[in-house]
Amino acid sequence: MRIICIDNYEDMSRKAAHIVSSQLILKPNSVLGLATGSTPLGMYKQLIKSYNDGLIDFQKVTTFNLDEYYGLDRKNQQSYFYYMYENLFKHINIDIKRVNIPNGMAKDIEKECLDYEKSIRNCGGIDLQVLGIGRNGHIGFNEPDIRFEALTHMVKLDKQTIEDNSRFFNSIEKVPTKAISMGIKTIMHAKKVILLASGKEKAEAIEEAIYGKITPKLPASVLQLHPDVIFVIDKAAASKL
Ligand code: GLP
Repeated sequence: MRIICIDNYEDMSRKAAHIVSSQLILKPNSVLGLATGSTPLGMYKQLIKSYNDGLIDFQKVTTFNLDEYYGLDRKNQQSYFYYMYENLFKHINIDIKRVNIPNGMAKDIEKECLDYEKSIRNCGGIDLQVLGIGRNGHIGFNEPDIRFEALTHMVKLDKQTIEDNSRFFNSIEKVPTKAISMGIKTIMHAKKVILLASGKEKAEAIEEAIYGKITPKLPASVLQLHPDVIFVIDKAAASKL
């Protein structure tokens, strides 16, 4: 595990974008695992800048997002599809056919999850997975007490996650209570992982993820077992290390 601790959010975002960019330069047809939430927004901005500067190209890139809310369709402004389109995809030359995000409106959820896993395998697996972290240590939407063996599946969201994510919705009642998420096993299969965290409200989860017991109670702690993981965190998120 490597820990890169950087002064502030902007520099953290730049560093994370450098890691993604170097992945794309070394392997233009990379398979990227992408995350949502407010943390990676700065990184996406930097990636768009690098694309506009001609440093990186997305033509051959395939992406798989970590998760999607259950019951929200792609046009819904709170859906992760909408977020990805607005914050990254519409600004770069990615082939939308190579963009994969779980379908939150799927009728047959089990099939949707199995197909998602199959698509990841058929693309040769994820080369670089980007992660954020929840205050309760969740990654993707793998909430505390998740089974580490889980692949993509339907999850019930934790009360704290619903509260935290309600800031993006008109009211807390509007926050979906379920989501489809890559499982811990899916994430652990990625060849490289970078986890981004910013702000003091993430400090406890970061401390436990890095130095705590490896336990499903703090899902991110499983990353201690990953052979190639980098935590890219700002000073506030690192304040308990
Ligand atoms: C959501 C996402 C996670 C993300 C987390 C933290 O629950 N499913 O992938 O890491 O929020 O979000 P933020 O970066 O806004 O703190």
